[in-house]
Amino acid sequence: MSLITNLLVSFLIWSTYLSYAKCDVPCAARDVGIEGRSIVCVCNATYCDTISREIPERGKYVVYTSTFAGDRFKKSYGDIETNVNAREDDNDDDVDEDENGNYEGGEDGEIEQPVSILNRGAIRLYANRRFQVIEGFGGSVTDAASINWRKLSDGAQINFINTYFGKDGIEYNLIRVPIGGSDFSEYPYTYNEGPWQDGNLSNYSIVSEDIFFKLPMIKRALRAATSEIKITASTWSPPVWMKTNERITGYGQLKPEFYQAYADYHLLFLEEYSKAEVPIWAITTTNEPINGVAGAPFVRFNSLGWFPSQLARWVYNNLGPTIRQSRFNATKILAIDDQRYMLPVYIYGMEQEEPKAFDYIDGFAIHYYGNFAPASILTAIQNNYPDKILLSTEACEGPMPWDNEKVEIGSWQRANNYVTSILQDLNNYVVGWIDWNLCLSPTGGPNWADNFVDAPILVYEDSDEFIKQPMYYGMGHFSKFIPRGSRRIRSAQRSLLRVDNLAVITPQGTVVVVLQNKRERAIDLRIQIDWRRLISITLEPQSIKTIEIGV
Ligand SMILES: *[C@@H]1O[C@H](CO)[C@@H](O)[C@H](O)[C@H]1NC(C)=O
Ligand SMILES: *[C@@H]1O[C@H](CO)[C@@H](O)[C@H](O)[C@H]1NC(C)=O
Ligand SMILES: *[C@@H]1O[C@H](CO)[C@@H](O)[C@H](O)[C@H]1NC(C)=O
Ligand SMILES: *[C@@H]1O[C@H](CO)[C@@H](O)[C@H](O)[C@H]1NC(C)=O
Repeated sequence: MSLITNLLVSFLIWSTYLSYAKCDVPCAARDVGIEGRSIVCVCNATYCDTISREIPERGKYVVYTSTFAGDRFKKSYGDIETNVNAREDDNDDDVDEDENGNYEGGEDGEIEQPVSILNRGAIRLYANRRFQVIEGFGGSVTDAASINWRKLSDGAQINFINTYFGKDGIEYNLIRVPIGGSDFSEYPYTYNEGPWQDGNLSNYSIVSEDIFFKLPMIKRALRAATSEIKITASTWSPPVWMKTNERITGYGQLKPEFYQAYADYHLLFLEEYSKAEVPIWAITTTNEPINGVAGAPFVRFNSLGWFPSQLARWVYNNLGPTIRQSRFNATKILAIDDQRYMLPVYIYGMEQEEPKAFDYIDGFAIHYYGNFAPASILTAIQNNYPDKILLSTEACEGPMPWDNEKVEIGSWQRANNYVTSILQDLNNYVVGWIDWNLCLSPTGGPNWADNFVDAPILVYEDSDEFIKQPMYYGMGHFSKFIPRGSRRIRSAQRSLLRVDNLAVITPQGTVVVVLQNKRERAIDLRIQIDWRRLISITLEPQSIKTIEIGV
């Protein structure tokens, strides 16, 4: 292209961008034709709905609403009301209350209107009571996700990346990537599979899945992103010759003679991805270590078992020193990477064996599939380890044996489950939330172990389109409006009716509140910003709302 055409094209793209900047492209809704399901939004090579975040001026607010009935990020605007008759009864600077203002969806406060009808809620915000700093939100670049993505045409691939990572999308800023294969691969594999007993890892190399699928997808995401993308990497299984059972799955742990080799296995991955210009922010200490121990009878995919004592010794003697003495010394080490209810078990066992292992650990990684255990476990852990972060690293719907439909297209219930979990986690000190596969096929694969599940985006190769399920919008209600560096603030329930919520203050100085109404009825809600100023809104039946307030 000549310089002139180049300039002309840039000008055209730029002017198009300017003229549409404030004008969101609406969801191309498709009725999935199943009773009880919501709509999905269809994207292709030339069309995909967009969303812009509008930062309100002081005194104003912007609302984004998604509903079971079919709204997706529907925008509305309002002015903060001032109650001139208010008495200064509870002051912002009054900080002698419980420091841990955080259970599921905000804490109890005194009830102002005990008679209040059960359709009326009240929440009081305390912008000066600040808790954890938010890292962000994201999804995982598995083999399955990247293989599906590459089945789309160039235009649809671009729309896909932008809808997750771009300025007009939901602006994800976290990614998780498997080190080698996971069950969401077309076949089980690891790096350095041969020769056997190769403790020096002389034959280590990344594979074609990295080169042709995962790395290209990640690099496109890095380029589209509006802020730094922080990548967390996890191993599912090492080469089987390192394992006591010499199999990819089942009951098996690391052979002691390969403890150092397995640490080096992680370091070499950091080298390889660094060479490919994909920096890794954090590694976890192996995906779901319980699967190769007590979970073995139920799990049929890539795993490595760790007893807590073994994990402590390996981190202290091998992984920790190896990473800290390398040029990747800033890489965070996130321990455990397993279900919520497993965390106390591992932490206790590791402490008993080698408390100094915790000097190498920057935080704990948590999975989604055991959330019958209360989220307050996380606050208890944070209180014991105030300098460590809690990061949710994996979540998906449909993985349980009793989930007879792996993919429930258009499910609003599944979006609700995500939102409930994010609200609980973040109200209990979690700093970020990473979804599992960014996309899957319409049957929830590929997965070599037949462990099919749901994903926020499904890819339809034949029609060159992808559909965005309610779960995508559930994620977006957080990721789009809670930028990195936001801090959770205290919110207190002031009504008999509890309304699940999360409140943060953003780096721009605005307050963002996420609200969930799981009921079939509308809720009238009063959000008291301080003793004089308030917002009155209605939460539609079965809705998720994000409100950004110019305080
Ligand atoms: C892409 O989607 C838009 C909006 O739904 C539609 O008008 C257009 O026909 C689609 N393009 C193709 C090639 O299907
Ligand atoms: C080294 O790895 C390659 C695959 O990356 C494999 O084909 C080859 O057999 C391995 N070499 C040995 C000596 O096992
Ligand atoms: C690793 O390499 C060193 C030096 O090349 C060699 O002496 C040693 O035997 C190798 N170890 C293994 C387990 O292959
Ligand atoms: C980390 O490594 C860099 C070189 O890559 C070095 O400059 C720095 O001092 C190291 N930091 C620590 C804490 O060892």
